[in-house]
Amino acid sequence: MSSVRIAPSLLSSDFARLAEAIAMIEESGAEIVHLDVMDGHFVPNLTIGPPVVKALRKETDLTFDTHLMVSEPQAWIPGFLDAGADMISIHVEADRHLHRGLSMIRDGGAKAGVAINPGTAVESVSEVLELTDYLLIMTVNPGFGGQRFIERGVGKIGRAKSMIESAGVPCDIEVDGGIDVTTAPRVVAAGAGILVAGSAIFGTSDPVGAVRALRQAAAGPVA
Ligand code: DX5
Ligand code: ZN
Repeated sequence: MSSVRIAPSLLSSDFARLAEAIAMIEESGAEIVHLDVMDGHFVPNLTIGPPVVKALRKETDLTFDTHLMVSEPQAWIPGFLDAGADMISIHVEADRHLHRGLSMIRDGGAKAGVAINPGTAVESVSEVLELTDYLLIMTVNPGFGGQRFIERGVGKIGRAKSMIESAGVPCDIEVDGGIDVTTAPRVVAAGAGILVAGSAIFGTSDPVGAVRALRQAAAGPVA
C-alpha cells in the first residue's frame, strides 16, 4: 500500500498560477502531475493543449500524466510526446483503434494508459492489456472537477484488478474522480495504485497538507 502514488490534478488549481501549483506539488511529495486535456467535443469542457504542457515541462522533473479526454486522441499523441508527457492515457470510448493508439504512445517512449468512463465495462480493454501500462478508471463522468464519487467504481476497480492478475501483466490502476480522504482508502483496498485528486487538494486552503492527508488515508485501514 505504501507504493501508492498521488497525482494532483491541475484542473482544480488556479490556471493563472500553474507554475505555483507545480511548486506546491513538489513540496507536497506527490509523485505525479495530472494534466486534464479536454477538447469540448468528447467532453463538454475545454482546457489545455501541448503548448501549455511544454511550458510547464520547464518547471519540474515530476512525472507528467496527460489524460486525453478528446475525440481523436491519435491526432494529439505526437504533440503531447513532444511536449514532454511521461504518461498518456486515451479513452477506450474515443479511439476505435485502441491497439494502434497505445502502440503509438509506447513507441514514443511514454507509458500508455487506457481510460474508461463510468458507463464502460472493464472487459472492454481485455484485448489490449499487454499494451497498457495503466488503466485509468473514471469514478465520475469526465469533464469537470468537484463531482461526486460514483460508488460502483469500487467494485469495478476490484474487477479490473482480477482481470489484470489473471492476464499476468504489470498494469497499474489509476483512479480519477471524487477522490478524497474517505474514498482513497477504499479504492486503494480495491486495487488502485495511482490516485488522482483535484478539488480535494486545490479546493482547500492547505494543498500541501491535503496531499499528505490523502497519502495517510490511502495507507490507513478501510472504515
Ligand atoms: C475530470 C478529470 C479529473 C478531475 C478530478 O474529468 O479527469 O482529473 O480533475 O477532479 P476531482 O478530484 O475534483 O473529482
Ligand atoms: Zn483526469
